[in-house]
Amino acid sequence: MRRDASGAWDDATADWYASTWGDSVSNRLAAELCGVVEGDVLLDIGCGTGTTLRTLAAELVDVELVGVDPTPRMLEIARRQTGDATRIRYLQTGGEDLPFEAGHFSLALLVNTLAHLVDARVALAEIRRVLRPQGRLVLVDGLVEGVVHDVGAICATLVAAGFGSPTATRHISGTETVVIIEAVRAEAV
Ligand SMILES: C[S@@+](CC[C@H](N)C(=O)[O-])C[C@H]1O[C@@H](n2cnc3c(N)ncnc32)[C@H](O)[C@@H]1O
Repeated sequence: MRRDASGAWDDATADWYASTWGDSVSNRLAAELCGVVEGDVLLDIGCGTGTTLRTLAAELVDVELVGVDPTPRMLEIARRQTGDATRIRYLQTGGEDLPFEAGHFSLALLVNTLAHLVDARVALAEIRRVLRPQGRLVLVDGLVEGVVHDVGAICATLVAAGFGSPTATRHISGTETVVIIEAVRAEAV
């Protein structure tokens, strides 16, 4: 995928992604299986075109929904597709710099975004900071056939970043394998 010199996606990549993967199995499974409940305060890091957030908004009444993404075109598409009649809040920023108070969120989603972070270590530390104690991180990755996924290495990265007891499940749909890893914000790093 094309990125500009700053590491951000360019407009063409965003348009291609929106038309090719904008509504993928992984987005639907993320919304379905993330375990969100009414009252949650949810942050979707690298929210892209906002598909997961819109699915959640359609199903839940009392959940604060925030999406962040550093790519302006992604957010432009997200806002256009979301329209005015929703409580989803979008902000332009990367996972490495989350402009929220510590402990604000109860649930964080990272959907098809881990590999796109500029610095995963810094971003995971930021995600941990903005999660409340016992807050959950749900990482979802949809993989096309042939892509190798080192779930063990991802779990080890999460533990090193201060997330406890990661559990991984795999879901197969057509040629896509979706991996879901859930971990809880541990008290100490
Ligand atoms: C493969 S797309 C996934 C988008 C969305 N989560 C989905 O599943 O449809 C990866 C996203 O990561 C975003 N991204 C790139 N660098 C990022 C960073 N440093 N922090 C957070 N998101 C980033 C891109 O702009 C893009 O929207």
